[in-house]
Amino acid sequence: MTMNNQILGVIFDLDGVIVSTDNCHYLAWKRMADEEGIEFDRTVNERLRGVSRMESLAIILERATKAYTEDEKQEMAARKNAYYVELIGSLTADDILPGAMNVLTLLKEKGVKVAIGSSSRNTPIILKQIGLSDAFDAVADGNAIKNSKPDPEVFLLAAKLLNLSPANCLVVEDADAGIEAALAGGMRCLGVGSASQNPSATFTAADLAKADMQSILG
Ligand code: BG6
Ligand code: MG
Repeated sequence: MTMNNQILGVIFDLDGVIVSTDNCHYLAWKRMADEEGIEFDRTVNERLRGVSRMESLAIILERATKAYTEDEKQEMAARKNAYYVELIGSLTADDILPGAMNVLTLLKEKGVKVAIGSSSRNTPIILKQIGLSDAFDAVADGNAIKNSKPDPEVFLLAAKLLNLSPANCLVVEDADAGIEAALAGGMRCLGVGSASQNPSATFTAADLAKADMQSILG
């Protein structure tokens, strides 16, 4: 690897990479879908990884038996979010995923910058709950972007906030939409969790605890 593409920054997705909020998202959507009588299961839930709240709702509504107005859709998304915020209120540092803290420590020791690149508008609440509000050099989240993954906007913003070129950044993702976004933004990516099966990912590992960061960093 030449110095030109040395990894100088790592951009982490939040949900499913740093913290196990996945089940909270699932339970909140499930509660809303059950109330509306819309069929929703964990298979459909997999398609919601990395995509925005309204796009997630659109995927859930593919199985709806009636049409909803724009106002009704806004209300359903707000209702799901209220259920979700209630659930993430009990997150603690114990919900940080295996390996995440060790990897953050290693990167800090090596002088590699770290950022969050998440579609979630709840990113600030979640980071506070798990005690990582000050752990990142930059945070790019759903509040700052127009286009959600697979669009690369959130990762390009994170790279910009780190003052790095995309070629010097590595993205860590658990969602296929996030792998696509990283590659579209000209970044290498490490797929973990569901995305560890993604053949397009530059590197893969079951989770951050199993990732060989030393060799990925080169
Ligand atoms: C992503 C999740 O991190 O954030 C998605 O993987 C979720 O499932 C998206 O839809 C938006 O989250 P929020 O918290 O803004 O509703
Ligand atoms: Mg994720």
